[in-house]
This record gives sequence, structure tokens and C-alpha cells, in this order.
Amino acid sequence: MAKQPTPIVGLDIGTTNVRVVIAEATDGEFEIVGVGEAESRGLRKGVISKPDLAVDAIKRAVEAAERMAGLTVTEVYVALGGTQIKGFNSEGMIAIPGRQREVSREEIKRVIETACAVPISAGREVADVLPQEYIVDDQDGIDDPLGMLGSRLAVSVHIVTSPVAAKQNVITCVNRAGFHVADVTIGQLAAGEAVLTDDDREYGSAVVNIGGETTSLAIYQRGAVWHTEVFPIGGSHFTNDIAFGLRTPIPEAERIKREHGCAYRPRLTPEIAADLIEVPSVGGREPRTVTRQLLCDIVEPRAEEMLAHVHAGIRAAGYERQLSSGIVLTGGGALLDGLVEVAEQVFDAPVRVGLPEGIDGLAEEISQPGFATAVGLVLHGLRLSQGAVNTTRNPGRRVAGSSMAGRVKSWLGIG
Ligand SMILES: Nc1ncnc2c1ncn2[C@@H]1O[C@H](COP(=O)(O)OP(=O)(O)OP(=O)(O)O)[C@@H](O)[C@H]1O
Ligand SMILES: [Mg+2]
Repeated sequence: MAKQPTPIVGLDIGTTNVRVVIAEATDGEFEIVGVGEAESRGLRKGVISKPDLAVDAIKRAVEAAERMAGLTVTEVYVALGGTQIKGFNSEGMIAIPGRQREVSREEIKRVIETACAVPISAGREVADVLPQEYIVDDQDGIDDPLGMLGSRLAVSVHIVTSPVAAKQNVITCVNRAGFHVADVTIGQLAAGEAVLTDDDREYGSAVVNIGGETTSLAIYQRGAVWHTEVFPIGGSHFTNDIAFGLRTPIPEAERIKREHGCAYRPRLTPEIAADLIEVPSVGGREPRTVTRQLLCDIVEPRAEEMLAHVHAGIRAAGYERQLSSGIVLTGGGALLDGLVEVAEQVFDAPVRVGLPEGIDGLAEEISQPGFATAVGLVLHGLRLSQGAVNTTRNPGRRVAGSSMAGRVKSWLGIG
């Protein structure tokens, strides 16, 4: 008998938008059947600051997705955001007793525990542990050492920590909205799931998820995560600059940014640069007109500054020259016209906008960079709950690594 489809729900509680994606999965195949979006108000820099408002936005976004999908949501996969999320790398090693014995599941668990035996400051907890590679005796670069012969097992891992309260607040708000939390993962890692290909992860790439008030970074290489960081900058900084520079209300500045904003001056031909934009004034004064050139003069330096912060993060982590697959910009902020061009100059690397693509169902609705995290949460949820997942673009991608990631979290009692 065919298995009943199980809804898998990704819930991305962002500073400007709450987004929900519902997928139905059967036997490793899945389809997106509902999406929902609601304006978010109760967050500051990716962290819930006004729970009542956040709960309300969560409810509205889930209801919209439920209506579209024609089903009721009970359980969701959520992302954790905010500048307090910190990542670092660690290593562990154990001896495998006996002469040249096979590595067991128990020993893999134990070596990861050894790598995680590092002091964590009070009020913080481990949010995720991502194995990078195993080393059996002198052989490195091993993805899964189970059953290999050796006398010494080592592992390197990326550990992500977050304030205990931040995760607890997210879970409490989701529960208050009426849903159970199946798993919590880090926002940029979810976004990476949705917009990177296996080759990106293998040859080296950085996901830069530009949200409303935060920009989060994850660096991948050899199929693993090597660096994560969250910066307190995002799309709202452009809006604020425009509002201040043109003396116009924030909602108007936001509209002007989206409709006319450009971050890269060479994109403006002389005619376009001279185009006039009407700018509503504050305090009942007459609207004024400004050129697109002037708007670009406000936006461009901010784009350079913002991307330079991210570039500095990549350089400080030591990956500046190791991202052969380039930089993938995603999140709503990646829609700013000309940002890719500025980024190519700042990073001196290939840059593209990452959209969740090649997935069955509601392709038009989800192929926006703002949906990367919510779609990635669905992919993450599918893998945790079903093991293998197929997407039309990339059949069976990341199956082994990700089901292992889920196992690591349960071993360590995280979640
Ligand atoms: N067409 C566009 N042009 C420029 N910027 C845009 C466009 N569409 C959306 N944005 C910007 O994207 C940002 C919101 O992105 P997103 O929805 O990914 O953020 P979020 O997830 O709510 O926030 P965060 O990740 O910081 O918590 C806003 O600053 C918005 O102005
Ligand atoms: Mg976001």
C-alpha cells in the first residue's frame, strides 16, 4: 500500500518577513504544496523581541500556507537567526582498541563527543555540530568511517553555539502559535541547502543570506561547513539611508529602493541616470524629484560597505582564495539591482543570486531569494524524517551527509 504523504513544513521567522513552505513527501519524492508569507514585526536583528507580535505573524503566515495546501500544520522545522550565533571549528581523536579493528558507530559517536568537549560560555548552548571530515590513522578526507580498519579515529567538526534564551524564545513562540517544533537549524545553513549545488559545496562556496537586519554567512568546502557568521547589517540599512538622504518616510524609501534602487553605478546609462523619481516628503510638504543617479549615490557606498564586512569575515576565516564556486547571494536583500556586480568587485570572485530552484511544485512562488531559508528548512526536514530526498535538479543530493547530521544531533541530545 502506498504511504500517506507526510507534510513537511519550513518556518522562517525573519526580521521583516515570516515565510512558510509546506511540502508533501512520499518515498523520497516530494512536492511543494503550500507557501505563506506575513509581514514580521516582533523581531530585532533576527531575534524575537516582542513575542506577541511574532506569534501573530507566525500564525498568519502558516494559515496562508495551510489554505493553499488544503491541510493542517502541526509540526514545523524552524531556523535560528541573530548576531549572537557563533561558529567555530574543533577536533577530536580517540584510539580504537585492538589491532586494526573496524570503526563502529559507537566510536564515531564518541569521537564527535570528544571534539565537542570544549567550554561553552554560561547562557549559551551548542545549536549544531557539523562533522567536516574523519581521519582514520593517516588517511584524511573521509566522509563516513564506519567499518574502516584502523587504530586511531579523528574528526574535525564545525560547532555552532547560540544563547539558550534565543532558541527557547523561538520554540515558545512557535508553540504559542499552536505548532510543535520538529527541529531547529541555523538560518544560513538552511539557505545553503536550498541554493547550493553539490558542486558548490564540494569545490568551495559562500552563501551570503541578506535579510532585513542581518546578513549571515556560511562557507562550504569539500562537502562540509567550515565557517558561519552573522553580521548586523541588512536590506533595511539601504532603506534607512534612502529615507534619511531623501527625507522621505520609511515605507516610501522601501518602495523607492525596490523600484528604482541600483547599487552599481556603471549599470546606469546616462539616460537612466538622469531619470527622475518622485519622492514624497515628510510633514505634508510637496513631493520632490530626484535623479536615479542621486539614489544610486546613496545606495552604492552602503552596498560596498556591507559586502566589505562580509568579505572581511571570509578573509579572516582564511577562505578568501578557496571559493572556486564563488559567492551565492540570497535572502530578500539579494534582489537589490546591481548588488551582484558590486559583490563581484568586492569579493573578486564569481557571484550569483541563489534561488530555490529545480524543486517540484509552486516553482514560481518559491523561486525568490527570500524563500531560500524556508525551502531549505523543508529539504532539511525531509532528510531528517525520510533520509533520502530527490529533487528534479539534483537527484539524491546530500543524502548521506545530511542524514548523518541529524544523527549527530540526536547523539548529542541537541534539538
Ligand atoms: N526588490 C528588492 N530590492 C531590494 N531589496 C529588496 C527587494 N525585495 C526585498 N528587499 C529587501 O530584502 C530585505 C528582507 O529580506 P528577507 O525577507 O530575506 O529578510 P528577513 O529574513 O525577514 O530578515 P533577517 O534574515 O534579517 O531576519 C528587506 O530589507 C527588503 O527591503
Ligand atoms: Mg532571513
